[in-house]
Amino acid sequence: MATKPMSYPIMEKLVALSRRRGFLFQSSEIYDGINAVYDYGPMGVELKRNIKDLWWQDMVRSREDILGMDTAILMHPRVWEASGHVNNFHDPMTECKKCRRRYRVDHLPEGTKDCPECGGELAEAKQFNLMFRTKLGSTDEGSMDVYLRPETAQGIFVNFANVVASNRVKLPFGIAQLGKAFRNEITTGNFIFRTREFEQMEMEFFIHPGENARWLEYWAEERLNWYKSLGISPEKLRLRAHGPDELAHYSSACYDVEYAFPYGFSEVEGIADRGTYDLDQHNAFSKKKLDYIDQENGGVRIVPAVIETSAGVDRSVLTVMTDAFWEDEANERIVMRFSPKLAPYKAAVFPLFKKEGMPEIARKLYEQLRRHTAVIYDDGGSIGKRYRRQDEIGTPFCLTVDHESLNDHAVTLRDRDSLEQIRIPIGKVPDILKEKIGL
Ligand code: GAP
Repeated sequence: MATKPMSYPIMEKLVALSRRRGFLFQSSEIYDGINAVYDYGPMGVELKRNIKDLWWQDMVRSREDILGMDTAILMHPRVWEASGHVNNFHDPMTECKKCRRRYRVDHLPEGTKDCPECGGELAEAKQFNLMFRTKLGSTDEGSMDVYLRPETAQGIFVNFANVVASNRVKLPFGIAQLGKAFRNEITTGNFIFRTREFEQMEMEFFIHPGENARWLEYWAEERLNWYKSLGISPEKLRLRAHGPDELAHYSSACYDVEYAFPYGFSEVEGIADRGTYDLDQHNAFSKKKLDYIDQENGGVRIVPAVIETSAGVDRSVLTVMTDAFWEDEANERIVMRFSPKLAPYKAAVFPLFKKEGMPEIARKLYEQLRRHTAVIYDDGGSIGKRYRRQDEIGTPFCLTVDHESLNDHAVTLRDRDSLEQIRIPIGKVPDILKEKIGL
């Protein structure tokens, strides 16, 4: 793979497992890959979907005060002028005059003059805009330069008036969306931590101006707790307030939810006070009224302030995978200790042998369970190999049908983490699984 986390053995093992078990592949691998772009395989897509579904459930469906949206990736280019991304969304870049490698200046030790790879002279730093530009329309009708969105948030801001006019909303309220974003990052790496195409889960919470500090604290805590609710080790999670020199051009205060990756604490999500910046800018650039009639305060028109929660889906996947990765040396196995609600499969059903009535019983049980949850049927290879396979994709429970099952109408249930094995009646499997998985 092109982005090799060479200096972190755990990350290398995680990359190898991801490929071996179908979580993630380098994009266009048969053409030697494309740097910092990844494809999710059958296991990865289930894990990622589970994370996105939980976010949607917790941020939209279970809350009365947040509505969902799904806006387009391509937007009018004026959006990005108004948002400040055309003028401000860049990183300082330098290039080696000899090997042409590019570096983010702020990722190099201060005062670095020579290329860390080949020792060649580094060129003077210049600002590099991270937005991908493309053309909209055929040449016949006249084409227009547009950008692939670098954040999903602007789709929400430009639709603020539409949502207010078409729904009964009252401050404070939020609008959330989940979708792709693109950034032409100068330096990438650490697997899917920083990629050029990724997904975001963003929520813009509109409030009365002046209530910013209170809501910023509220959302920072809520979001930190959300990661804990995914089963991620609480001691590896923290909130870190941004220093004034770290703030994005639109924000006046910000917290990051950070996770202790093998390469140090790094950002998984940002919770930012965007104030009235975005609505003010779109008001000025579009000359349309993006405001709110405050009925509770005599019908005055106000521009609400915004607290944003902005999470990366892929970074959440990486966090969950890094935290779940466990080398169980005593039992010579690698286990992905996913919380059952995130595991791609909740249970696996095995016939011990492909004969003597075992497959029939196992298939019947599998067909019954898959109506309720994600289960996998596996009859390939020795039982030990099948257990190892399920351990590596993080399946919490394995159910084995053996010779005895024909007589005692029971199966062996094996727990992924404790390796405990118990015998349970086939008829009770759905209820026992329900209780253990908590679904
Ligand atoms: N709307 C605000 C915003 O986009 P950000 O801090 O630039 O803020 C928010 O990005 C989140 O998006 C980050 O915390 C991270 O999880 C994710 N993210 C940003 N750039 C990324 C990249 N190149 N690759 C993967 N995830 C990224």
